[in-house]
Amino acid sequence: MSKPKVLVADPIAQKGIDELANGGSLDVTVKIGLKPDELLAIIGEFNALVVRSETKANAKVIEAATNLKVIGRAGVGVDNVDVDAATKRGIIVMNTPGGNTISTAEHAFSLMVSTARNIPQADASVKSGKWDRKTFVGVELYNKTLAILGMGRIGTEIARRAIAFGMRVLAYDPYLSASRARSLQVELVESLDLIIPQADFITLHMPLTAETKYMLNAERLAKTKKGVRIVNCARGGLIDEAALVEALKSKQVAAAALDVFEAEPLPAESPLRGLPNLILTPHLGASTAEAQEGVGIEVAEQIRAALLSGEIRNA
Ligand code: MLT
Repeated sequence: MSKPKVLVADPIAQKGIDELANGGSLDVTVKIGLKPDELLAIIGEFNALVVRSETKANAKVIEAATNLKVIGRAGVGVDNVDVDAATKRGIIVMNTPGGNTISTAEHAFSLMVSTARNIPQADASVKSGKWDRKTFVGVELYNKTLAILGMGRIGTEIARRAIAFGMRVLAYDPYLSASRARSLQVELVESLDLIIPQADFITLHMPLTAETKYMLNAERLAKTKKGVRIVNCARGGLIDEAALVEALKSKQVAAAALDVFEAEPLPAESPLRGLPNLILTPHLGASTAEAQEGVGIEVAEQIRAALLSGEIRNA
């Protein structure tokens, strides 16, 4: 009997590839950087597809994937997979929700500290030959109020770190129970409109859906405390970028840090690139050795379980 065939179409950690190949019961092909037409031409051969965020498993790919049983996303968001089209064809879409939690929380927390202390701007200034200590006076996190929008795995890890820094932590999440909030030592706030005006810092940790799109729009940004600092390491589109640009220019928002954008890669001409009080990183939340190994092994184990014993996890 022929072995189930797996296509790894985006770079995953070698340990993940090794886990897929472990015991020789799967036929594993690694082809990174396929053009859309090249993927369409070969996808029909495969029973499983492993992606990160680069490969787009859109409706055309799903239609051509006549033998596909499972798509594994090495990461959390499945924005690059047409889940509805896959589900209609009976293809299971899995993600790896646990593997990059700590890395993303640490990146978001680092960006929050950077917005408080202007670290990247000060670094650039010193490297340009200056010694300017006045421009970069910051604020402490201690005794400040942090609003966490989304208290899933990553939001929860942010809360633990913020509490250790002496912050008051407010949480908004429609799925967070009062007892869970108490056990995490955070104050549950029932609506965005109530939490936003209280915060010195806001960090977003929600998926992008029709309900969450532009949750921070011009109207809500106008309701923030003047001088709020905002971090987004979740998904572009949660914040209306055009409205954020205006709020940063007017200093309603003192500083912000974005790791994710409405369009990725960020267009060269984006007005976000020109703001001195905005820190930008290129979607690095999960870019650590540990997270990539974690999601690589997790996705491989899930694909093996699905193809070899019909066991479905994180679908
Ligand atoms: C995720 O959804 O897991 C993160 O955004 C990181 C990634 O895209 O790999």
